[in-house]
Amino acid sequence: MNKIKDATDFIKEKLGSKRPTIGVILGSGLGSFADKVQDPIIIDYNEIPHFHATTVKGHSGKLVIGSIGEAQVAVFQGRFHYYEGHKLDTVVLPVRVLAKIGCKKLILTNAAGGINSEYSPGDLVCLTDHINLTGSNPLIGKNNDELGVRFPDMSEAYSSKLASLLFDIANEMDLNLKAGVYAGVLGPSYETPAEIQMLKVLGADMVGMSTVPESIAANHAGLQVCAVSCITNLAAGISKEKLDHDDVKDVANQVITPFTKLLERAVIEMEKLY
Ligand code: HPA
Repeated sequence: MNKIKDATDFIKEKLGSKRPTIGVILGSGLGSFADKVQDPIIIDYNEIPHFHATTVKGHSGKLVIGSIGEAQVAVFQGRFHYYEGHKLDTVVLPVRVLAKIGCKKLILTNAAGGINSEYSPGDLVCLTDHINLTGSNPLIGKNNDELGVRFPDMSEAYSSKLASLLFDIANEMDLNLKAGVYAGVLGPSYETPAEIQMLKVLGADMVGMSTVPESIAANHAGLQVCAVSCITNLAAGISKEKLDHDDVKDVANQVITPFTKLLERAVIEMEKLY
């Protein structure tokens, strides 16, 4: 069974004349960016071979392919998480499919808990790096040489070129885009205050339950990656508030306008880099 080929062949059949070059994966509560895609082809995840319906509230489970200005994009509205019980090859299947349909750049987005004391709920943060604390890696097992090398370099897991493009756009928009290191954990329980103190010592600015496996698979497949976190809450113990997924979605919703604008302009500028 070749999951990547089956899913890719299915999507390619539907593409018609569209040739997406930029992939986007939207995190919790951030899905409405997909509404900006013009002339879209919309494919439900459960139609795509080896894809599953999404189980997490705020992840709608649709692939939207079309254009934003001159940019041709493929947008995954919702993702698979390791904590849902999916194997990591399912979690990263959207990334690998994007690589196979011809995307060269990938924008990952997520909701995250803020650890850095300079962060407030509602902040948008561009990832400069990550720390993989999920306890696993999507590249475990026999290497798929068609996708990439056995030991991919991760010294620029998040492209500094794409990040500086994001900062330039944010500047023009008067948006205070921050920079930070994302600690990727397994979840689904939120962290304890002691765990957050540990992550702080390790150099993490924020914490979340996604993005890291996707970033690893994307780097393996030769995609240039950038990622934006929406700080939906202060991490456990940083504030006294209890954590609740509904609050995560609410805060993500509150920043959806600048977030969407940033991404729209980003894909348009990224297209010009080709
Ligand atoms: N921890 C982990 N994942 C998260 C958080 C958090 O505080 N907020 C949103 N996703």
